[in-house]
Amino acid sequence: MNCEKFTEGKIGEIKQTVGREKAINALSGGVDSSAVTVLGHRALGDQLKTVFIDNDLMRKDEPEKVVEMFARIGISVELVDAKEEFLSALSGLTDPEQKRQAITDTFYSKVFGRLVKESGAKFLLHGTILTDIEETMAGIKRQHNILAQLGIDPQQAYGYAVIEPLKTLRKDDVRELTKFLEMPAEICERIPFPGPALAARIVGEVTEQRLKTVRTATDIVEEELADSGSFQYLAVLLNDCATGIRDNKREFGQIIVVRCIESTDARTATVTQLPWEKLNKISHRITQIDGVNRCLYDLTDKPPATIEYV
Ligand code: XMP
Repeated sequence: MNCEKFTEGKIGEIKQTVGREKAINALSGGVDSSAVTVLGHRALGDQLKTVFIDNDLMRKDEPEKVVEMFARIGISVELVDAKEEFLSALSGLTDPEQKRQAITDTFYSKVFGRLVKESGAKFLLHGTILTDIEETMAGIKRQHNILAQLGIDPQQAYGYAVIEPLKTLRKDDVRELTKFLEMPAEICERIPFPGPALAARIVGEVTEQRLKTVRTATDIVEEELADSGSFQYLAVLLNDCATGIRDNKREFGQIIVVRCIESTDARTATVTQLPWEKLNKISHRITQIDGVNRCLYDLTDKPPATIEYV
């Protein structure tokens, strides 16, 4: 891919489309939304407002870390607290598609809708990539960030037009682009993280307590596998329990699944053959989390499995 030509072309297109209007984008800190944020700011400067929506589904200290990271490269990001709205929308839901739908609705109609109105923006910049579109069209997964492909007209539904500068690129192209844009390594090399965030890694109901469990497990897995060189690694909380023994007492505890995969574009993936000692260490640390007494390693490639669980 010719990054220089791509960047120049997209900056020109964004400028022309937005004209003198205002635009807004939501940054999650992932590679895709980060690349869009940098492209957007190069094209629009202060005409673009960037927000980070804290939905309470993010990893440990993630909102603050992302805002700081962008401040260091001269882009100011507004942190919006929407924890209550997302948690109450998810309350009582266990069906994966209903959970994704609740997150989409809360994001676009409630929180983002309000922010767009307040900002007066007429355009939304979005980090959709080619794989998102293909998998949504194929019905493999309802990616929460695809609107047009799901037959939703954002102009009609939410009052703004969507610009998707990365929609012809795959993940590896986006990574190449972030390097070309001289973004810090912590952004370029960030492992993928799904739009529905930790909600994609909780089977069953998303509650504050269950989020806390999966967040702690995620922190352990990310720390232990940071130098694995793998494409993606994650922790999932199952909606089932198993008997275990803690402090000489039997307990019916929670189960965490660890997943670590090799892939280039997330369309297909194979399981990383992690050393036994590493798996053992992870299992030992995970089962020290309150209420968790089992740790499993997922051996399933994609296909037939997807990477996330929800
Ligand atoms: P799956 O689970 O479909 O995931 O095999 C493929 C890749 O996409 C990420 N993923 C998402 N990314 N919004 C996103 O922006 C989503 O709704 C979403 N769901 C999954 C996942 O982490 C993996 O890298």
